[in-house]
Amino acid sequence: AIDPQFHENREKVGEENGVAVWGPVDEPEELGIHGTHVAVDYDLCIADGACLEDCPVDVFEWVDTPGHPESEKKAEPTHEAQCIDCMLCVDVCPVDAIDVDAG
Ligand code: SF4
Ligand code: F3S
Repeated sequence: AIDPQFHENREKVGEENGVAVWGPVDEPEELGIHGTHVAVDYDLCIADGACLEDCPVDVFEWVDTPGHPESEKKAEPTHEAQCIDCMLCVDVCPVDAIDVDAG
């Protein structure tokens, strides 16, 4: 499962699609965690898609990640600022790849 303490345990190494990327990153096999308020561990995501389908405010968008061992696309929390902290995505992700910091 995603480390809920990733803010402390990882370092921000950049930004993609308007969201922070928390390393380590070693493309294309290791992609880190994307997002801060809504965070997706790209190295766990298997592109199940439940988060995209179920989020009531459409926080997530697909991005292509060719060459990643788990899946060749990932759910990017592009619109994390719109999140209403319903926690649905956290509940539906089959691999517990999502953390929402509801405070
Ligand atoms: Fe969307 Fe709810 Fe997840 Fe926020 S917690 S990203 S509103 S499903
Ligand atoms: Fe990935 Fe989990 Fe969403 S596997 S696509 S983060 S439901």
